[in-house]
Amino acid sequence: MKLSKIILVSIPVLIIAPLAFVYSGIFNVAATATHDPVTNWLLTQTRIRSIEVRSKGIEIPDLDDEKLQLAGINDFDSMCAECHTAPGRQPSSLALGLNPPAPDLAERALEVSPGKLFWVTKNGIRMTGMPAWGVSHSDDEIWPVIAFLQVLPDLDAEDYQEMLKDAKGMGHHAH
Ligand code: HEC
Repeated sequence: MKLSKIILVSIPVLIIAPLAFVYSGIFNVAATATHDPVTNWLLTQTRIRSIEVRSKGIEIPDLDDEKLQLAGINDFDSMCAECHTAPGRQPSSLALGLNPPAPDLAERALEVSPGKLFWVTKNGIRMTGMPAWGVSHSDDEIWPVIAFLQVLPDLDAEDYQEMLKDAKGMGHHAH
C-alpha cells in the first residue's frame, strides 16, 4: 500500500476510534473502578515527574521553628486530616471513598522533600481529591503545615493530642 493510502485510511480510524470510545460510555468513571496497570503507571510517572520539575528552586524557610510547627498542627487538623487521617484516627467516610486514596502523610513526609510537599499542597493534583490550597491561602499560611509534616512521623495518637493542646490559638485555623 502506498504511504498516501495508509495515511488516508488511518486518519478516520484515528479520529473515529477515540470518539467511539468516548461516546459509547464504555469507560467507567466511577471512583470505585480501578485503573488498568498501564494507565496507572502512566498517571503515577506523569505525576512524579511533573512535581519533580515544578518544585525545583522553591526556597524553604526554617522548618525547625517550633512556632511554625505548632501553627501547622492546627491547620493540618482543619485542612488535611479529614482525607489524610491523623495519628490514632480511623479514616473518615470521605477518605474511604477517595480514588486515588489520600496517602498517610506521616509516611510520605519521610520520603518526599519539603519543596515537593509545599508544591503539592499549594497547587493540588488535578483529577484527584487533592485540592490546591494556594487558591485560598498565601505561601506564609501553607509553610506552617509543611513544618508540621516534618514532625508528624514522630507523633503517636497521644503526642498528637498533646501538641494540639499546646497549639491552642496558633495558626490561621486556630482552635
Ligand atoms: C479532599 C481530600 C484531601 C484533602 C482535604 C487534602 N488532601 Fe492531600 N491528597 C489527597 C489525595 C486524594 C491525594 C493523592 C493524589 C494522587 O495520588 O495523585 C493527596 C496527595 C497529597 C500529597 C502528595 C503525597 C505524595 O505521595 O507525594 C501531599 C503532599 C498532600 N496531599 C498534602 C496535603 C496537605 C498538606 C493537606 C492539607 C493542607 C491536604 N493534602 C489535604 C486528598 C486530600
